[in-house]
Amino acid sequence: MLSAERIMQRCAALAQHSELAGGLTRVFLSPEARAANEKVLGWMREAGMQAKLDAIGNVAGRYEGSRPGLACLMLGSHLDTVRDAGKYDGMLGVITAIECVSALSAGNRKLPFAIEVIGFGDEEGVRFGTTLLGSRAVAGIFDREVLNMKDAGGVTMADALRDAGLPPEGISTVARKKGEVLAYAELHIEQGPVLEAEGLAVGVVTAINGFSRLRVTLRGTAGHAGTVPMNLRRDALAGAAECVLATERIARSHPEVVGTVGRIEAKPGAINVIPGEVMFTVDVRAPQDPLRNATVDAIRAHIQKVSRERKLDCHIETLQEFGVTACAPRLMEQMERAVARQGFRVRRLPSGAGHDGMALGAISEICMLFVRCKGGISHSPLESISEADAAAGAKVLFDFIEHFQT
Ligand code: GLV
Ligand code: MN
Ligand code: MN
Repeated sequence: MLSAERIMQRCAALAQHSELAGGLTRVFLSPEARAANEKVLGWMREAGMQAKLDAIGNVAGRYEGSRPGLACLMLGSHLDTVRDAGKYDGMLGVITAIECVSALSAGNRKLPFAIEVIGFGDEEGVRFGTTLLGSRAVAGIFDREVLNMKDAGGVTMADALRDAGLPPEGISTVARKKGEVLAYAELHIEQGPVLEAEGLAVGVVTAINGFSRLRVTLRGTAGHAGTVPMNLRRDALAGAAECVLATERIARSHPEVVGTVGRIEAKPGAINVIPGEVMFTVDVRAPQDPLRNATVDAIRAHIQKVSRERKLDCHIETLQEFGVTACAPRLMEQMERAVARQGFRVRRLPSGAGHDGMALGAISEICMLFVRCKGGISHSPLESISEADAAAGAKVLFDFIEHFQT
């Protein structure tokens, strides 16, 4: 029996593992992540799976099919969070997948394929500024150069892995080969308002928008806020402010593009000192790659123009880029049939947010099921879903699994 009550309880239980008192922040390879992983490993084993922590810090469970060693239908999502996050982004997909396996194993049912459930250790990229670490490792597209990236405390990813007892040399063992994964299916909250506006509990995803992430550093001259006349300043923060507004304006010029400056740090950071150096990030998403590339080019050009005009030194680094990932039509159709069989109207919609399926697309066809969230709010402690919608998502995912055609 699928239990939406248990799904909700487990989402709440994982939210207890947080570095933020009174809120939820759980980043890659943190002590809180380790505690959450232990809980998920226990739930997987209770559900009849073989479960382990893999070499990149994903929780990986396997439920054999009608004979051992069959290729798998992979299900999953992520167990890390943004800062001051909600309880469902990522976790709902992992917990619902475990619930589906638990229902199969309670009925002692074996399918003509194995099921693997993965709780990816990093999707959000909060700690090291680069995303999809767990799923990139599974898809065999983990770029080892990212091991040198440092967190805010100066710890490299390689050292963080070693500290967690995961020698980075082992990462290649996580990679799955094409053919071992028959399909990847991810249930996730919508993180937007479309399903709620249409009174629908679930929706079938058509494609995941691509993204580009930049880190921009502007250098001017720090100086005394009282003595340097305005016309002789090289104020890096005033320059950055122009760039932030330009990012907003350029992204707004196309209805399908979004652009965000989510982090900004000014040095030295004192009330009476002209800011000499500023770092800010730019995140651009779009449903077509040429549109995203053109937007990024326009933002870069504007940043360079502002830098020239204000005599600032400018360094723009591309942190990460991912193209649009289309969901496979044959899997979307299977998911739609599951939606209809469970008595819901079929609604297709694209995903503006990034998901682990973007990486899995390198080795497998993918599909996604969205579950309505209240007010379309996500990446916020206000993120919420109803138990009835958790039940709807679980029923559709279970139906999809039961009828899955390889
Ligand atoms: C992940 O949630 C992302 O889209 O940034
Ligand atoms: Mn997220
Ligand atoms: Mn997510």
